[in-house]
Amino acid sequence: MTWLLTGGAGYIGAHVLRALRADGVDVVVCDDLSTGIRGRVPADVPFIEANVGDVDRILVALREHRVSGVLHLAARKAVPESVDDPALYYRENVVGFERLLAAMRAAGVAAIVHSSSAAVIGSPVQEQVDEDSPTDPQNPYGRTKLICEWMLEDLAAAGELSFVNLRYFNVAGAGAPELGDVGVFNLVPLIFRALDNGIAPEVFGDDYPTRDGSCIRDFVHVSDVSLAHLAAVRQLDGRTGRVARTYNVGRGEGVSVKEVMAAVAAVTGRDFSYAVGPRRSGDPAQVVGVVDRIADELGWRARADLTDMVRSAWQAWQHRATVGDRS
Ligand SMILES: NC(=O)c1ccc[n+]([C@@H]2O[C@H](COP(=O)([O-])OP(=O)(O)OC[C@H]3O[C@@H](n4cnc5c(N)ncnc54)[C@H](O)[C@@H]3O)[C@@H](O)[C@H]2O)c1
Repeated sequence: MTWLLTGGAGYIGAHVLRALRADGVDVVVCDDLSTGIRGRVPADVPFIEANVGDVDRILVALREHRVSGVLHLAARKAVPESVDDPALYYRENVVGFERLLAAMRAAGVAAIVHSSSAAVIGSPVQEQVDEDSPTDPQNPYGRTKLICEWMLEDLAAAGELSFVNLRYFNVAGAGAPELGDVGVFNLVPLIFRALDNGIAPEVFGDDYPTRDGSCIRDFVHVSDVSLAHLAAVRQLDGRTGRVARTYNVGRGEGVSVKEVMAAVAAVTGRDFSYAVGPRRSGDPAQVVGVVDRIADELGWRARADLTDMVRSAWQAWQHRATVGDRS
């Protein structure tokens, strides 16, 4: 059993790669290294440096390695960048995805696990959102993810493939010091970067209708997220009937931005104060998932808590400082 993992040189992909290999799944990685790091992929893993839209190269890889399914994580994911350059996001995340699906069709590969995002929900009216909650993405990034979900639903309805959409909430932490998140838009690395630069980390708005006025999100450890992929692969592999399922991947518990700041202070031992800035446009007050469906159907549940996430992220951040900042 071999799976093609797109985006395997990325932050989450590198964890998924390790979770699959640890469980005996053979993996081939495709990544264009636009934001990924080659060193995250072990030397003995077949690596194709290509864009997912490169049908010819993907087709060769699918056939050569007798791939039975695709885990599609490769995507652009920076919300502000998607607002500034939406064409890039539609090209990479939607057109690239359509071409990947075309290569799969040509190779007769009919199973896919797709990285989606809570960004497809937008600004929920409910305290917690389940997989059937209304979708109303607030930015081009979220829209590209929702379009990909729709594409999969329609192709599955036409009998072309089976899919599992994994809608991650806010992914944080690291499974090993060398696998940390170097992204410049995720909250935990943003706080670390500010501390390193000797400036106060910023809370974007503290007048939301939440328990402490700051935004509330559902943070989930990247190692837990990686195991959700393994569960999805197991669900798809060897199934004769069609699978067409969407799952929230979160902890089902809200944590405020100020609570994350406090956890960072406790873990790092640094006594810092944060600055309160204006709200960012499009930031919903609260986004927390209902995570019962994935627990009931795949037996997956997140284990790590906020302290585990911040502690492992901090270790990775310090490791990164010792080997050099490559972000
Ligand atoms: N990090 C989060 O909190 C979060 C939350 C929800 C969803 N997601 C989704 O999870 C996936 C992985 O995110 P991540 O945090 O690991 O990001 P990342 O930027 O670290 O990883 C993305 C990887 O995909 C590669 N890539 C991007 N576009 C490509 C293309 N067209 N062809 C080939 N390779 C390409 C990049 O080089 C990189 O290695 C993305 O689809 C993202 O939208 C992430």
